[in-house]
Amino acid sequence: MLSSRHLMTMDDVTVDDIALILDTAESFAEVNERRIKKLPTLRGRTVINLFLEPSTRTRMSFEIAAKRLSADGVNFTASSSATVKGESLRDTAATLAAMSCDLVIVRHKYAGTPQIIAEMMDCSVVNGGDGVHEHPTQALLDLYTMRQNFGHLEGLTVGIVGDIAHSRVAGSLVPALRKVGATPIVIAPQTLLPARPDVLGAEVAHDFDEVLPRLDVAYMLRIQMERFEAAGFPSLREYARLYGMNMARLAAAKPELVIMHPGPMNRGVEISSDVADHARSLVLGQVESGVAVRMAVMYLLLGGADSGAAA
Ligand code: NCD
Repeated sequence: MLSSRHLMTMDDVTVDDIALILDTAESFAEVNERRIKKLPTLRGRTVINLFLEPSTRTRMSFEIAAKRLSADGVNFTASSSATVKGESLRDTAATLAAMSCDLVIVRHKYAGTPQIIAEMMDCSVVNGGDGVHEHPTQALLDLYTMRQNFGHLEGLTVGIVGDIAHSRVAGSLVPALRKVGATPIVIAPQTLLPARPDVLGAEVAHDFDEVLPRLDVAYMLRIQMERFEAAGFPSLREYARLYGMNMARLAAAKPELVIMHPGPMNRGVEISSDVADHARSLVLGQVESGVAVRMAVMYLLLGGADSGAAA
């Protein structure tokens, strides 16, 4: 069992919870590898995907995870929903609550929406990304991917590079890394850092090349064009030159350095195409782990079932 019935921020999980989620995900990954299509584990449970902001990979990942566990999944997406007709979030939540379900996955452009949903509904809530705040299942699948690659998490130095200010991925990954005894370093120009970078709890660096030799993982973030009012850098070319991962930087790094990215990637901006497709890029491995990790989160939050528990 996990210590909280919700997964809204990394504050909801303890170090023991993280270990349990990653171990459970490992057994689900084995099931996925054996191409066993479905486990009966969550049969009869209803999972609602409440995605009120565009998303493909995260929504699909949750959807596939729910299907593999035989849950009944219902999708509620912004473009097809009453929200475009002006329904308030509270009314949407009240409507969903009246239909009774076991788990709601929420993605929303405003920070804190999952908390509002949790207050309105009597079911577990997972934050699938809220505004610029947090994205905890992304951080968990990233930890999983790192542990698969290195065999451990403690002692790893992870550079998170780019648009820290607008990144809910960084918002969850920094505390997640600290919990497991790894060292996060956020690497960005001043303009792409939050006003008080010290509150992140990560070392802050502005010069990528200077810290590069210390890194075990270079975690590249997408420049979030849609969240910008004014770009925090002179040009994309300039950004790529100073903060992009490319073959020259790969050559200057530790031989065991791996590259990660939550997707979607802007090839040629934060990551060059040859690095994105390089053997040391774990990007597709992250996507693959995402399904197993989300299966584990759903299974553990819903208390599993009597039959067909994690193999
Ligand atoms: C991220 C997101 O949407 O927060 N992507 C994802 O969930 N895979 C990061 C991003 O949009 O850049």
